[in-house]
Amino acid sequence: MSRKKIVAGNWKMNQNLFEGKQLIQDILSCSTEPGANVQVIIAPPFTQLALAASQLKDRSGFFLAAQNCHQEKSGAYTGEIAAGMLKSLDVSYVIIGHSERRQYFNESNQLLAQKTDAVLAEGMQVIFCVGEPLEIRDQEQQNDYVKTQITEGLFHLSKDAFQHVIIAYEPIWAIGTGRTATTEQAQDMHAFIRSVVAGHYDAATADQLSILYGGSCNPANAEALFACPDVDGGLIGGASLKAKDFCSIIAAR
Ligand code: PGA
Repeated sequence: MSRKKIVAGNWKMNQNLFEGKQLIQDILSCSTEPGANVQVIIAPPFTQLALAASQLKDRSGFFLAAQNCHQEKSGAYTGEIAAGMLKSLDVSYVIIGHSERRQYFNESNQLLAQKTDAVLAEGMQVIFCVGEPLEIRDQEQQNDYVKTQITEGLFHLSKDAFQHVIIAYEPIWAIGTGRTATTEQAQDMHAFIRSVVAGHYDAATADQLSILYGGSCNPANAEALFACPDVDGGLIGGASLKAKDFCSIIAAR
């Protein structure tokens, strides 16, 4: 079986309950059925998940993601959300290690490895984000940087557990900046990530891994990015908040 194509929308800290309900309604009415082997994933804030789950219930090809979770199963962690709570809301995926979590909440690769375990233990899948800051790209150190993120965050997993992981490559200099990676930069990094996974596990595991590109992906550039052989879809921020744009990106997969 060929690997899955995925278009995922990361709403970040946007949309109240009513705005979010409308956005999902609009997305559902402008997008056609994603088709076999294509998944559309929507990652709204925690407060939207229960309602979104009921809206997506009967739509095949649509899945729900959370943007984060805590690494512990339960306990005295005021304000936090455990993976099991997300599972009970019909959440299928959890985004782990978004650069904003790494940067503003000091999430280390070691912590992200624990969060990954927490998600997988509940039978959900992980969208694991990696990507370098601009100064690392300028020094041409991006491959080593991303390899370390993957090695420390994911390579403790068994080969079986790793089947439930998707990697999103999001160069930090491209997130929310309007400066997209070129198709060549995206393809080079995605091929590199696949080779790192092949080196640690094996070629078949690497071949099955969906690797998404994220960072100023929009209706104008999605088709060219998704046409790269190692780009299996996108993790979309800003453009996922506009139903029409998100639907055009879904159509480009
Ligand atoms: P952007 O965000 O599409 O707004 O650049 C992508 C992301 O952070 O997931």
